[in-house]
Amino acid sequence: MINFVFGSQWGDEGKGKIVDYLTEKSDIVVKHHGGANAGHTIYVDNEKYVFHLIPGGILHKNKICVIGNDTVLDLLTLKDELQILKEKNISYKNRLFIGERAHITLPYHRLLDVALEIKKGKAAVGTTARGIGPTYANKINRIGIVANDLLDKKILKNKITIANNEIIDIVKKVYGLDNKKIKEILSNFKYLDHSALDYYDQKTGLDVDKLVNKYYKIGQELKNNITDISLLLNQQLEKKKKVLAEGSHGILLDINYGTYPFVTTSVCIAGNVFSSIGTSPKYLDKSIGIVKSYTTRVGAGPFPTELNEDIGKYLQEKGKEFGATTGRPRRCGWLDLCIIRYSKMLNGMNEIALTKVDILTGLKKIKVCVGYKLKNGSIIKTVPYDLYNVKPIYKELPGWDQDIINIKKYKDLPLNLKKYIEFIEKEVGVKIKYISVGQNRDQTIIK
Ligand code: GDP
Ligand code: IMO
Ligand code: MG
Repeated sequence: MINFVFGSQWGDEGKGKIVDYLTEKSDIVVKHHGGANAGHTIYVDNEKYVFHLIPGGILHKNKICVIGNDTVLDLLTLKDELQILKEKNISYKNRLFIGERAHITLPYHRLLDVALEIKKGKAAVGTTARGIGPTYANKINRIGIVANDLLDKKILKNKITIANNEIIDIVKKVYGLDNKKIKEILSNFKYLDHSALDYYDQKTGLDVDKLVNKYYKIGQELKNNITDISLLLNQQLEKKKKVLAEGSHGILLDINYGTYPFVTTSVCIAGNVFSSIGTSPKYLDKSIGIVKSYTTRVGAGPFPTELNEDIGKYLQEKGKEFGATTGRPRRCGWLDLCIIRYSKMLNGMNEIALTKVDILTGLKKIKVCVGYKLKNGSIIKTVPYDLYNVKPIYKELPGWDQDIINIKKYKDLPLNLKKYIEFIEKEVGVKIKYISVGQNRDQTIIK
């Protein structure tokens, strides 16, 4: 059966930590969408790991990890992540599998991502500049390169030539970038041991042959990992193996149900798991929503409970709310239960994992948004399309002072925290099963 773990807000809810925690009880962990825009942090034995592409389960040495067909893969980022595993003596041989139909992000996608953001000016989305939108757009335009294409140099060259010419044309003719500007943008794409600037060509913008040679070489290195993951997972599910699907981003960043256009470009909701990994929805066992005990958002777009004054800064500093992918400061605000109810409606939420509760310790009063007042005076309890024109209705709860980071049992938590937890459960109608009180594996309380 499949358990689906997903971010219930705007990303960075602590999915990495919870997935790592839940991997113990699973056989296979799957990343089903998104790409190097995600940044999932895991601490094991005080060692910090940030994964953008590799599923969080990889740190459990005997588990299988799968990258689904609806992901977009920046292979230079993937290579860096594999290098970190090698340095830590974590083998991925015979246990990391990449969907042969997953689309590959190339430097021209990142270039186009940045060019479009520059052109949009004030209307920019504030993307992670990881080429995510353009890679998915090329998939839909049917000029994408899939993982399987990496294995045949002739096919790879044909496809890269078509896509590269198309994008360089757009970048130059539509967005008016010259080769100097292209060089400047490429020079900002830094990886651990290589740079996108390596592919810069003074005459054409990007050197297709260099790209083909590099990506073919990476394909050869990964040829035993690239496979028909749908077949693999169906066989494993038939054998009653337990699959954990690791959502990326968050429900309000979903391309269909998020705060469009301030969203990412993949489908983040439960339905996409089956599409990406090629299995029947009949295998869904549980959906587990990860809820940060306050709200954060990176990039532009509406955010009804945003706090721009002291408490917002307090949450940002104490919660170390800076992007795991881009380092950008995350906007912070109170917990918004309309968003959590909406996530429940879209995914079915059997359980909640409530994270970063320790960050709220010390606040005298904690506010929680329980509904929105619309301009016409009516009150709603879920998320409408227009999230700019809602006024949050707050319930104020008393805070707690007791340090909770070493508490292991629910009964030992401060009374006001238990009241906070029970209030959320009642308002959303879902039990909070996991309470995270710190970044480490053992800082997780089961209720
Ligand atoms: P993800 O994208 O959902 O995996 O989340 P990120 O890794 O981008 O951001 C979550 C951050 O919060 C990471 O730095 C985690 O180590 C940290 N974190 C997760 N759970 C907790 C918690 O319960 N308490 C504290 N203090 N930090 C946490
Ligand atoms: P994880 O998995 C937070 C946001 C970006 C931007 C918008 C579009 O770590 O929770 P994109 O590069 O995807 O085209 O950017 O989506 N965004 C995220 N914000 N956490 C993430 O992932 C995000 N992935 C995308 O900040 O506003
Ligand atoms: Mg993150």
